[in-house]
Amino acid sequence: MGNVYVFDHPLIQHKLTFIRDKNTGTKEFRELVNEVAALMAYEITREMPLREVEIETPLMKAKCKVLAGKKLGIVPILRAGIGMVDGILKLIPAAKVGHIGLYRDPETLEPVHYYSKMPTDIGERELIVLDPMLATGGSASAAIQALKEMGAKNIKFMCIIAAPEGVGRLQKDHPDIDIYVAAVDEKLDEKSYIVPGLGDAGDRLFGTK
Ligand code: URA
Repeated sequence: MGNVYVFDHPLIQHKLTFIRDKNTGTKEFRELVNEVAALMAYEITREMPLREVEIETPLMKAKCKVLAGKKLGIVPILRAGIGMVDGILKLIPAAKVGHIGLYRDPETLEPVHYYSKMPTDIGERELIVLDPMLATGGSASAAIQALKEMGAKNIKFMCIIAAPEGVGRLQKDHPDIDIYVAAVDEKLDEKSYIVPGLGDAGDRLFGTK
């Protein structure tokens, strides 16, 4: 079973409060989502392996550390996942970005994978799949399934708010995936919105409502 890591860092929790607030406008909402994504990425990368290199400072030779091991890829689920990309890239500019799009079939209500463009070497990368909201878990589960079929071997899932239902679905469908989240809320409402939540993350990010 994958682990669920809830980031209770005071800065993350403080910013999350303003993300939730309905009076926070589009510009500030977008900035805060990126800031929280960056802080979460900082925590997620804490265990990244390092290797020693020798460099010369202006004064002498010195053995110092650089990142070793697998390279990172981030994969926003369209459209709201895009709102987390810039914050993470500020911290890890060398990460490659893959995109994946899914829509819900109006008859079956199942997610349909309609678009993806991935780095060619996803099998060798550590991937972080991004979606601010893990609601029913249907899209996240389908996106991860598609990435596995494309050859991804090492996947983490990062969201800002999750519903217990979405966490359960992801753990059932993909027990190998760890979930990183700023808050696990109470439940889904009858329209599958997370409550108390923050509303529609895509609309709030892009000002479409
Ligand atoms: N997607 C959102 O943007 N908000 C929710 O509450 C659930 C899914």
